[in-house]
Amino acid sequence: PLVTSTEMFKKVYGKCAVGAFNVNNMEIIQGIVDAAKEEQAPLILQVSAGARKYAKHIYLMKLVEAAVEDSGLSICLHLDHGEDFEICKSCVDGGFTSVMIDGSKLPFAENIALTKKVVEYAHAKGVTVEAELGRLAGVEDDVKVSAADSSYTDPDQAVEFVQKTGCDSLAIAIGTSHGAYKFKGEAKLDFARLGKIASLLPGYPLVLHGASTVLPEFVAKCNQYGGEIKGAQGVPEEMLRKAGTMGVCKINIDTDLRLAMTATIREHFANNPADFDPRQYLKPARGAIKSMVKHKIRNVLNCSNQL
Ligand code: G3H
Ligand code: 13P
Ligand code: NA
Ligand code: ZN
Repeated sequence: PLVTSTEMFKKVYGKCAVGAFNVNNMEIIQGIVDAAKEEQAPLILQVSAGARKYAKHIYLMKLVEAAVEDSGLSICLHLDHGEDFEICKSCVDGGFTSVMIDGSKLPFAENIALTKKVVEYAHAKGVTVEAELGRLAGVEDDVKVSAADSSYTDPDQAVEFVQKTGCDSLAIAIGTSHGAYKFKGEAKLDFARLGKIASLLPGYPLVLHGASTVLPEFVAKCNQYGGEIKGAQGVPEEMLRKAGTMGVCKINIDTDLRLAMTATIREHFANNPADFDPRQYLKPARGAIKSMVKHKIRNVLNCSNQL
């Protein structure tokens, strides 16, 4: 069935993390779900506002329902980065089992008020809520690197935020960022801060956004076959493994899916210039997503056989 994140997070807390993969179409969903099934892994499929705009809510809903029925897995269907009450309500009403309200851009008190409102609505309908406190820094932000520290999640505020809102999980900022360009020099996460937050909120599920590794093999393949992706860098796998033992229960991955799919399609076109049936290139793209996700589940998330 479609399930909330509650039992998944309980099961993995302190040991490993559940992968939360962004989905936009059938091939992406199938590749991820096939991997999770073979690994018998808990699974969160998440949908952004952009994904809902691209594919329409109902198509993604029905595709994920089909994936549940076909695979027999329990899957959590989650709204990623809901920016207001309305989109969260629309996803709760429309069958999602989890939503994120991202009030991280708002002043603390306003973030609390908005998150609380979403929690009240979602909980009344049995839906779990992720919130965010602190802002993801990164080289793509206008914010100077020296100012980045001030945007990281404050541990004491995290406690107050969780107590006042009743949110079920909290996304924190410790140095990750969205996209393919996460670090200019050496990759660095503030594990001391993560440790402090986890110690003040024992047993409470934390979430890491911007957690793609930006796998070099796919960047290289994109570039080998006509792409121009320069200076891309992600979160090293050993850092993600470590985060999974420190209270991070959900690790968000989108960029690695995009890179796997694009690299594979570029390679296919370069080697098969006469092909024009979309199945000819979408099939290997789906296969590449599946093997990449299996690798993550087994070697990075460490959540194989955690059902
Ligand atoms: O956090 C952002 C996710 O990677 C989704 O990206 O808004 O382009 O669908 P998107
Ligand atoms: P990446 O861009 O690192 O894949 O992060 C995805 C994410 O955090 C979605 O919410
Ligand atoms: Na999310
Ligand atoms: Zn995110």
